[in-house]
Amino acid sequence: MMTPGNLSGQGDRRVALVTGGARGIGLEIVRRLLADGYQVAFVATRAEHVERALESLSCPEDRLYAEAIDVTRQNEVERFIDRVQARWGDIATLVNNAGISPKRADQDAPWLSQMSLEEWARVIDVNLKGPFILIRLLAPEMIAKGYGRIINIGSLAGRAMPLIAGPHYATSKAGLVGLTRAAARDLAPNGITVNCIAPGRILSDLTGPPEAVVNRSALSRIPVGRFGTAEEVAHVVAFLASPLAGFITGATIDITGGEFAA
Ligand SMILES: NC(=O)c1ccc[n+]([C@@H]2O[C@H](COP(=O)([O-])OP(=O)(O)OC[C@H]3O[C@@H](n4cnc5c(N)ncnc54)[C@H](O)[C@@H]3O)[C@@H](O)[C@H]2O)c1
Repeated sequence: MMTPGNLSGQGDRRVALVTGGARGIGLEIVRRLLADGYQVAFVATRAEHVERALESLSCPEDRLYAEAIDVTRQNEVERFIDRVQARWGDIATLVNNAGISPKRADQDAPWLSQMSLEEWARVIDVNLKGPFILIRLLAPEMIAKGYGRIINIGSLAGRAMPLIAGPHYATSKAGLVGLTRAAARDLAPNGITVNCIAPGRILSDLTGPPEAVVNRSALSRIPVGRFGTAEEVAHVVAFLASPLAGFITGATIDITGGEFAA
């Protein structure tokens, strides 16, 4: 019987693409999928972060490939996918992890009314249009193969009252839950599962240090009494990517330490 960590028998299902893989949660997802035997391609915005991640992973080129590209630019994404396919063949696992969450200096100031349309559009573009572009580009080859795993990284902020994140972020992540369900329904007959993971407060560059005021107050709302780790998110990705999760699709899995303030 196949277990996560053992891809023997997976044949041409070994290639995974992770967006936002250069740091934080994405980097741990890349690390975990490599440990599980995948060939992993990842993208992130900044070339120096990509280089640093490649150095820290120190993995041979036939297992790991990465570039600095922007997931909102379809042409760049398309060319990246072409290069990955030329190296390794079809991509069977997609993890849409890249995301941004602009913050205000003053947490108590009104936000919706003051937000520029440009800021709104950028967050929706990265967090929602990006995953849509990736799914659209990769679904045809998954359909042809009759197998695929798509995992979208949403957020508690898209599932409950957003206490820290902005309205654009909460909207984009709520939209990702809808995109997950719509794609799951579309692709289910083709052996492709599409799921969403909704992390609560996970310490990363995006959330800042634990001693930050915003994190200290967030901690008081987490029933298990600690922040989550990127590794804990990566475990769930690894499970959803594995053949063991074949009957789970259209689902959103909360990883929040019990926090769910509806
Ligand atoms: N950290 C948390 O507490 C938390 C909670 C809920 C959800 N999330 C979600 O998890 C995901 C990862 O978060 P993180 O904390 O690791 O963030 P992070 O800021 O540490 O990393 C984000 C990564 O996404 C990449 N990225 C951003 N915009 C991109 C673009 N346009 N094109 C390509 N790559 C891009 C960055 O280069 C970076 O590598 C995000 O989608 C975030 O919304 C995080």
